[in-house]
Amino acid sequence: MHHFHYRNDELYCEDVPLRTIARDAGTPCYVYSSATLQHHFRVFDSAFEGMPHITCYSVKANSNLAILAIFAALGGGADIVSGGELFRALRAGIPADRIVYSGVGKSRDEIDYALRENIMMFNIESIQELDAINDRAAALNTRARIALRVNPDVDPKTHPYISTGLKKNKFGIDIEEALKTYARAREMSHIEILGIDCHIGSQLTDTAPFIEALKRLKLLAGRLKESGISIRYLDLGGGLGIPYHDELPPPPREYADAVTRELGDMSCTLILEPGRVIVGNAGLLLTQVLYEKKTPSKQFMIVDAGMNDLIRPSFYGAYHHIQPVVHKDRESLVVDVVGPICESSDFIAKDRELPVMKPGELMAVMSAGAYGFCMASNYNSRPRAAEVLVKENQFFVTRKRESREDLVLNESVPGFIGEMAR
Ligand code: LLP
Repeated sequence: MHHFHYRNDELYCEDVPLRTIARDAGTPCYVYSSATLQHHFRVFDSAFEGMPHITCYSVKANSNLAILAIFAALGGGADIVSGGELFRALRAGIPADRIVYSGVGKSRDEIDYALRENIMMFNIESIQELDAINDRAAALNTRARIALRVNPDVDPKTHPYISTGLKKNKFGIDIEEALKTYARAREMSHIEILGIDCHIGSQLTDTAPFIEALKRLKLLAGRLKESGISIRYLDLGGGLGIPYHDELPPPPREYADAVTRELGDMSCTLILEPGRVIVGNAGLLLTQVLYEKKTPSKQFMIVDAGMNDLIRPSFYGAYHHIQPVVHKDRESLVVDVVGPICESSDFIAKDRELPVMKPGELMAVMSAGAYGFCMASNYNSRPRAAEVLVKENQFFVTRKRESREDLVLNESVPGFIGEMAR
């Protein structure tokens, strides 16, 4: 369920017409519904209410501070992958003891920052990283709580770029090697073993791969127990998919029931790292049609949002539904919706049958709440878009549009260049 709907043929976010947001905040602009965000978080979190668990929202999916603050207010934790994400999560009020830190390339500086903040747990992705974290914890006179992220070698049956739990992927420690690595971790003076972690991929539309991975984790937990290592936390990662087009992913309740059933009487606290399923359909990208262009072979609709604003179609061939902001009877045409960037891969939709939208009209690119703004760049020196959060009949600019000055803020021209002109 989301709160984007037509009222008198006009698209609204909750009780605010998108037209009003475009007028005040400009386009392109991301618009999020706070009611949808809260609803999705609660649905996901309460699906696991029968089990001790922590819902650690995956910050990478949408790291806007206001959105993180909503999840903090709802009692959420965070899954982070960088010092920057740790900074954001803490700034938004997520307690450090509800933060888990994954990622294959944690730097010494990031490790120190996380140790000083005393985060709940590091999800360790290699033996060298384990050594590094033990060393840094010794240097800082503390102990690092850890889980090993294991690679269970399960095919998540999703886009190859967002599969992470296959043997050939860079993520996690081979499940066969994990016993040895746990044994090594146990001997380390500044490491405390808390759990097992995995994350097999994103946009999964079936529970079977999750359950397959969980089976393998359970086996590992059993073998660890035999060797005297008890596991208190089982981190299943994120990955539950959403409907973008005609996918039918299992609802959180079905996913939770399948997980709970498979866990049986295993006593541990679950950690879940949902990203997309919470924010994906809570946001859209609002853009304006600039030009229509007809070539001998194609009809283009050129809009003011480009691949620098939303890279998913170019990067993964992802489908995002497109709707006119003002609904009226009109002809439809097969078009490519493209942005202003100088790349042929700069498109939002290809060969899509859409109602004809004229220059100046507003268009909504749906399901853009996850991996939208947070993957935006300044390519072609385009200031990044504004982000707007709606609550009932009010809206708030939670990140203002970048200015041209912002584009050059951290740049400087060394003096010798000035002298070259003389
Ligand atoms: N936990 C870990 C360790 C992850 O790597 C990810 C996502 C998540 C949780 C959250 O996964 P989710 O619940 O959102 O599926 N940019 C791509 C998706 C990349 C996902 C990366 N990892 C896209 O736009 O589809």
